[in-house]
Amino acid sequence: MKIVCVGGGPAGLYAALLLQQQGRHQVTVVERQRADDTVGWGVVFSDRTLDRLAGADAPSASAILAAFNHWDDIDVHFKGRVVRSGGHGFCGIGRQRLLQILQQRAIEAGVALVFGAEALDDQALAAQYDADLVIAADGINSRIRARYAATYLPAVEQRACRFVWLGTTRPFDAFTFLFEETEYGWFQAHAYQYDGATSTFIVEVPQAAWEAAGLDRMDPDDALAFCERLFARQLDGHRLLRKPVAAGASLWTRFPRVVCRNWVHWQQANGRPVPVVIIGDAAHSAHFSIGSGTKLALEDAIELAHALATVAGGLDPLTAALDAWQGARAVEVARLQSAAKNSMEWFENVQRYSAMEAEQFAYSLLTRSQRLSHENLRLRDPAYVAAFEAWLAARAFAAADLPAPPGPVPPMFLPLRVRGALLKNRIVVSPMAQYSAVDGVVGDYHLVHLGARAMGGAALVMAEMTCVSLDARITPGCPCLFDAEQTAAWRRVTDFVHGSTDALVGVQLGHAGAKGSTRRAWDGIDQPLALGNWPLVAASAQQYLAGVSQVARAASLDDMARILADFVTATRAAHAAGFDWLELHCAHGYLLSSFISPLTNQRTDDYGGTLAGRCRFPLEVFAAVRAAWPADKPISVRLSAHDWVDGGITPDDAVQIARLFKDAGADMIDCSSGQVSKLEQPVYGRMYQAPFSDRIRNEAGIATIAVGAIYDADHANSIVAAGRADLCAVARPHLANPAWTLMEAARIGYRAQPWPVQYAPARMQLERELERARGTP
Ligand SMILES: Cc1cc2nc3c(=O)[nH]c(=O)nc-3n(C[C@H](O)[C@H](O)[C@H](O)COP(=O)(O)OP(=O)(O)OC[C@H]3O[C@@H](n4cnc5c(N)ncnc54)[C@H](O)[C@@H]3O)c2cc1C
Ligand SMILES: Cc1cc2nc3c(=O)[nH]c(=O)nc-3n(C[C@H](O)[C@H](O)[C@H](O)COP(=O)(O)O)c2cc1C
Repeated sequence: MKIVCVGGGPAGLYAALLLQQQGRHQVTVVERQRADDTVGWGVVFSDRTLDRLAGADAPSASAILAAFNHWDDIDVHFKGRVVRSGGHGFCGIGRQRLLQILQQRAIEAGVALVFGAEALDDQALAAQYDADLVIAADGINSRIRARYAATYLPAVEQRACRFVWLGTTRPFDAFTFLFEETEYGWFQAHAYQYDGATSTFIVEVPQAAWEAAGLDRMDPDDALAFCERLFARQLDGHRLLRKPVAAGASLWTRFPRVVCRNWVHWQQANGRPVPVVIIGDAAHSAHFSIGSGTKLALEDAIELAHALATVAGGLDPLTAALDAWQGARAVEVARLQSAAKNSMEWFENVQRYSAMEAEQFAYSLLTRSQRLSHENLRLRDPAYVAAFEAWLAARAFAAADLPAPPGPVPPMFLPLRVRGALLKNRIVVSPMAQYSAVDGVVGDYHLVHLGARAMGGAALVMAEMTCVSLDARITPGCPCLFDAEQTAAWRRVTDFVHGSTDALVGVQLGHAGAKGSTRRAWDGIDQPLALGNWPLVAASAQQYLAGVSQVARAASLDDMARILADFVTATRAAHAAGFDWLELHCAHGYLLSSFISPLTNQRTDDYGGTLAGRCRFPLEVFAAVRAAWPADKPISVRLSAHDWVDGGITPDDAVQIARLFKDAGADMIDCSSGQVSKLEQPVYGRMYQAPFSDRIRNEAGIATIAVGAIYDADHANSIVAAGRADLCAVARPHLANPAWTLMEAARIGYRAQPWPVQYAPARMQLERELERARGTP
């Protein structure tokens, strides 16, 4: 095939080289700059990326390897302290050197390189070179992407920080993150040495601080001098270096996050259909803090060349190869872009973590993308993780007013004291409706179900949503807690937990609102009852499932007064029933949640409108419950921190809502999301709601429970250690295995976790088998 590649950056050059090498194509690269012009300084790769390059083209990989500066450590400079961790395995190379190597190899392979030629019209280029395929590798501001936006469907978002890509002669023996607080806000620098004489030095700052510092009005030399003064201590007498900029232009840019739905556009050229394929930054960007943009660009090229390896021409094989390429590549790109987004957001919000001590701040930084976990870090640098665990444990035991044990304690097994409740570790059995009560009364099923989980090692077992009146139930199988019979039935459960286990037991009080009067989950979730439906109330008149659910009427002030009184009655009953912890259910579209979300609250009185108005009734209920609940017992509030619907609650709103509950005396926010509207578009993944907990905990300054796809010890350890949450609630894994916490303790080799004494023989056998499997004697 004849192939034209627009752009001679890493993506374009590498794709050209690999395709030309196949011996069946003639590739031309058209690059607007001269061969020796380049933006930027050094870039980094991980060791793993290098292995992939070696597999694709050994000569360029070994030339890159020879030019690399390699290092293992990451240093985090924060509040006058330096925290070092090792084993990270990175290489740095000058961008110019990388391009020289790729240009040289491309020429050797027979690629035609045309420099100093701006491609203004890809269709004219395709005609000029009689191309069968156009590769658009024209970078982050791709003109071709904009031209065929209707096909590629790009989303381009200019992010919140300003940054400048500088160099310096200051050597660094580690990948170095520098944080400096100024009167305008936090500034940070990402610095690493990439050759014998030069280091990359990227300065990044939120837009507001950038403007407050006057950097928007400063010329490039003054801006450079500002950065030199700011980081003078770490620059140690070395100068910062900058590339020339056009007259009147700023040194600073904002990072555009680029995501494209499609990467292949077909157009008619040379009398036949010719695909225009976008790769590299043109198709998807990854924030520089994750050091993966060049990696993504090179790997796009590797996969594209691989997909085209057997295509000699012809429409059908080419279409099939390009479809296969995008299908295979999209998953990896989405995964990396998601990690890059987490990382980018971390650096955009350094202020959020600034109250942390240097040790935890550095750990939070290292695990920011949620791809690098506690155990990954332990593999990289066991001494660093051991020292950090000891640091964390010393603080946790002191805060809980307990003597620290001699051995190491994984973060998820640290104790926590909340008011008069002492949690032996950080694991909660998340509330899970079982729909197995009879006329609101719990029975043997609940005793066995909750009792088994209380024996399973979690610190706190939260009973399912328990309803404050019969008409507050989701289904006829939901339990209630307002009369003597229900209280006595619950007492049987809490007595067992207290008498036979060392767990605490909590109750989640709720009112189903518009989601009430439905069938048990297994008989048709959210479907109205066949017979005997009861009337529903919600913040405003609404129907949860359009055309299916019963229509709830808007709660009148009298309804609200009755419901508030019901919550108080239930709270008193919960104390009488012996519960240690109370959670107010303000999530998932149930009654209190329906007041909070603008999707479900269209009231025009004092209980609607603004966020404060919408939170008014839930806060009134909270205040009444708090007043009726003993002062030494904690209350958590479960929120949907994201409705996942345009116009609904956002994580920004959730921080404000959390502040309101904190001011009202809540001890914790249980950070769930969704289930408010059937239009929701949630994005699932490991620990997918932990970022909401992170924001609420570190911005609103209230303790949190993280929940959602936390399914192994590594997740819980990472979340607690990074200060993303104080507790981790685990739901489905606890349905599958009541002793999930005990099993995870054994699996990670933590021996100090107490087991029920009756189960000691099982424990010995399990630990022995697991040790054998791990290969430890
Ligand atoms: C501050 C910063 C630090 C970074 N650090 C790292 C890092 O450490 N590790 C890492 O992996 N990545 C890093 N990156 C990302 C990396 O630079 C890019 O992801 C990578 O360069 C993408 O390669 P590309 O070939 O797709 O695009 P580019 O490198 O942008 O190349 C596009 C080329 O197309 C040319 N071009 C554009 N339009 C036309 C036209 N109309 N006609 C002809 N030519 C045209 C341009 O001149 C350019 O040479 C960093 C980026 C920034 C901004
Ligand atoms: C069977 C089942 C019932 C649930 N019932 C409740 C409930 O009563 N109250 C509540 O707040 N969340 C409820 N949830 C949500 C869980 O508490 C939890 O937030 C969710 O399952 C995500 O956690 P996981 O990924 O560990 O399962 C329920 C989940 C399941 C699977």
